[in-house]
Amino acid sequence: WLAGFLTSFSWIPMEHVADPTDSVWVLYGTQTGNSERLAKLTAERLDGLGIGNTLCSMGSFNPRELGKINRLLVIVSTQGLGEPPVEAEAFHNYLHGKRAPSLGHMKYSVLALGDSSYADFCQTGKEFDKVFEDLGGKRLFGRVDCDVDFEDSYEEWLNGVLNEMSQSRALSANSIEKMVPETSEMGFRTYDRKTPYEAEVLQKINLNGRNSTKETLHIELDLGDSRIQYQPGDALGVYAHNPDELMMEVVETLGLTGTENVTSHTGEKSLMEALRTDYELTPLTGANVIRYAKLTKDPRLEKIVDDNMELLEYLRGRDVLDMIRETPFKLSAETFITLLRKNSPRLYSIASSSEVYENEVHILVSTVRYKAHGRNKGGHCSTYMADRIQEGDRISVFVEHNSRFKPPVELDVPMIMVGAGTGIAPYRSFIQQRQSGTAQGKTWLFFGDRNFSTDFLYQTEWLEYLKKGTLARADVAFSRDQEEKVYVQDRLLEKGEEVYRWLEEGAYFYVCGDAQKMAKDVNHALRSIIMLHGGMTEEKAKEYMDYLRAADRYQTDVY
Ligand code: 2AM
Repeated sequence: WLAGFLTSFSWIPMEHVADPTDSVWVLYGTQTGNSERLAKLTAERLDGLGIGNTLCSMGSFNPRELGKINRLLVIVSTQGLGEPPVEAEAFHNYLHGKRAPSLGHMKYSVLALGDSSYADFCQTGKEFDKVFEDLGGKRLFGRVDCDVDFEDSYEEWLNGVLNEMSQSRALSANSIEKMVPETSEMGFRTYDRKTPYEAEVLQKINLNGRNSTKETLHIELDLGDSRIQYQPGDALGVYAHNPDELMMEVVETLGLTGTENVTSHTGEKSLMEALRTDYELTPLTGANVIRYAKLTKDPRLEKIVDDNMELLEYLRGRDVLDMIRETPFKLSAETFITLLRKNSPRLYSIASSSEVYENEVHILVSTVRYKAHGRNKGGHCSTYMADRIQEGDRISVFVEHNSRFKPPVELDVPMIMVGAGTGIAPYRSFIQQRQSGTAQGKTWLFFGDRNFSTDFLYQTEWLEYLKKGTLARADVAFSRDQEEKVYVQDRLLEKGEEVYRWLEEGAYFYVCGDAQKMAKDVNHALRSIIMLHGGMTEEKAKEYMDYLRAADRYQTDVY
């Protein structure tokens, strides 16, 4: 057996064991878990090739290690308005600060995750890529920026990196497949981003009252016998279709009929069919304009794409139809689709627990509508669900697991849940799970929206949970019921002493909803509470919060 043992391991080059500095470091900064997942896959792939490696989150990385790292792979996402994930902040600051080391000995490569419908696409990855170069590092392989459908770009990057490491063995193995549970031998299918499930819409209700300024849809979907599983904190990806009227106007503007044959990423079909299901027409993205400018060579567009600020201004409120109307250009159907962004799923925090709703999943969707550049417009996916989908229809969905937003595993620790608007959704899932399980820790909900009479989402359910004691406390902030605005963070501050006491008792603190303002303001409020009621300096309070984060007791799901 010894011979067999030796041969089975003989492909491991001994120096990888003997010399730890030769280890390839895979460093990730994640917010929802995608970067972490890709980092783990990368480490597995390196393992498979016998390349020694060290996998580490930026949150727990000691920058002093940089001195002995010769090969570094960085996988990092971008949050909100071009900011690093929380766990990457400290490392990001360190590299940009005075104490940043010289990295002349290091080869590196960056995989940047982002969403091209935001202005500062992959900004954090770009900054890491640049700062490593500024500090003397050499690129092992050029940075790759990934959009929300990151699989193909990830493969391109990893294969490029591995090629450079001149380990070309087994490169054809498609590691992405490992991300997806393989179809079971028992014969049932599995569903994911690439092969979504067609779920029937069981119910669609606008939770806002008649005179509300908002429209928030509660949607119940049937998972049938799909065996799709999800946990509280996970999200549901939904693929939308474009509206007929918009597609017709686009086709007319191009002087086409819609019956032209095109080859999209899903196969050969008519232009109309491709537009309906395979591409996005709204919002307009920077990449749309850059490609169109290149094609048309239109001086005005060329000038716009040359200046980032001008480009951002141009994108505001426009869609693809606005662009092709303002700058007409003769295009074939086949060329036109190359300008467009692939239809990407929108992610919604799941609002139900499968312990209570077996074979169902519920989501909460805020309908986006606005008028801009002379036309009524709306969110690609939210108006699809509001206007074009009825009960009984089927929509394409998949579950996106989020390892970074989870109720405590311990049964008896308290939870503080802060959410505004649709940010309430995951807490309905959390509390349903509590109700059906054995967890005993006390729970506290902070909810904010505009008006009490029309916008108290799931009001009767919360009251029921309060009565049963599953919810120990609830505080609400209705911003527009009085002269001056009242927000969830104001309620937190009012109850600061108790909030701090709960934290000291081991409470988990959750924030869900708007990333731009709400989550930041809540973060400030929490810091003030810890300073005031814990008698700490600002610096100590920050340490306290860092500790909460490191212990997974401060979790955010913001968008
Ligand atoms: P507003 O629109 O009346 O200003 C859900 O959208 C709720 O979040 C609304 O009540 C909204 O208030 C509120 N909100 C807006 N900005 C916020 C902020 N910075 N902090 C907390 N809540 C906020």
